[in-house]
Amino acid sequence: MRPRQAGKDGEAFEADLIRQESAGLLRVERTVEKPDARRIRMPDGQSGIDFSSNSYLGLHQRVRARAVRRFLSAGHLTSAGSSRMVSGTHPPHRRLERSLADFLRAEDAAVFGSGFLCCFGVIDTLAGSRDRIFFDERIHASLRAGIDHTRAPSFSYRHLDMDDLRRKLAARDIRGRRFIVTDGLYSMGGDFAPLDTLAELADRHGAWLIVDDAHGIGAIGASGRGTYERFGRAPEARHILIGTLSKTLASYGGFVAASSAVIRYIKARSKAFIYTTAAPPFQILAAEEALAIVRSRTGAELREKLQSNIRLLVRLLKRRPVSQIVPVPIAGGSSAVLEAAQSLWSAGCFAPGMRYPTVPRGQEMIRISLSAAHRPSDIRRLAAALGHSRP
Ligand SMILES: Cc1ncc(COP(=O)(O)O)c(C=O)c1O
Repeated sequence: MRPRQAGKDGEAFEADLIRQESAGLLRVERTVEKPDARRIRMPDGQSGIDFSSNSYLGLHQRVRARAVRRFLSAGHLTSAGSSRMVSGTHPPHRRLERSLADFLRAEDAAVFGSGFLCCFGVIDTLAGSRDRIFFDERIHASLRAGIDHTRAPSFSYRHLDMDDLRRKLAARDIRGRRFIVTDGLYSMGGDFAPLDTLAELADRHGAWLIVDDAHGIGAIGASGRGTYERFGRAPEARHILIGTLSKTLASYGGFVAASSAVIRYIKARSKAFIYTTAAPPFQILAAEEALAIVRSRTGAELREKLQSNIRLLVRLLKRRPVSQIVPVPIAGGSSAVLEAAQSLWSAGCFAPGMRYPTVPRGQEMIRISLSAAHRPSDIRRLAAALGHSRP
């Protein structure tokens, strides 16, 4: 039998991509090399300073040798071999979960295959079609995917607007459970959710608070506990804190930290946790090494260095310091933002242009991601390339 041709469907897919391209919205991947924690090399051989990585303390270079040594000496295999609830849980998995819980002041934690899976799986498992979900309009796409999958009635509130959330919470009846869903540190705007008010509103309305602090944990707060620490708080009994191993923790995977009862429930019920092979032991060892640095004096020094890089850039750009994610708005739509990113690259700095649907139309921006690995001269070069200062 001859294989079926893509036919009309294939043409429709192609036509869709052509439409995206002419609107300046087509995404294409590039294959890059990373010679070290602060540089990036493009396929044409040109290299420059990398302002796109979410490895905010530059640990992905520091942990490599130790993680490889431990991987080889413990005799781990390259794959966990099966899913967590069959025989894929090896000592590093539980050890990492215990240290994450201890670090974040939660009772327990569960490591998922990725941050995306974790965000999706936690909401999909805890909320059902009779519950109500209230979410900030800018939450990450993985949380949105989980919310959509639950088929629960869901209500978005304006970004960081607590009055809007208050109004929406007050207007709804109280059948079923209620969930408030927020990012901790927002991945595009680099701004923080008001966790103190959110915690108070969740408490007053008997709601669960789900916080995705993928960008905050490890990088923010004197000891690196993220947005909670910035607000001088710790997760409470009905709070669910999500993070990722793939940003500051220099590896790959996601995790949720919460009460023991919630973690037991998630492990027993989440399809995204159960029906997928456990994360490879090497990945877990790399995250363990990174977490050990995050919790050490070196971690505190790197966070101080990151803060000093943030202060330098915002001083050069004449802005107020907020976080290591610095959005630079570009007027003129998606083509203009691509041109701006290209002109930065010509000046030796790589930072991605963000377009719809990653950001709303009209809010295109260059997203600068600072790291403790950057040198002051890198930051001066970036500011000069953005047209704000001399290198
Ligand atoms: C806020 C936020 N949550 C979740 C994720 C997903 O994490 P991961 O890349 O580990 O899948 C990301 C980024 O990728 C993110 O920015």
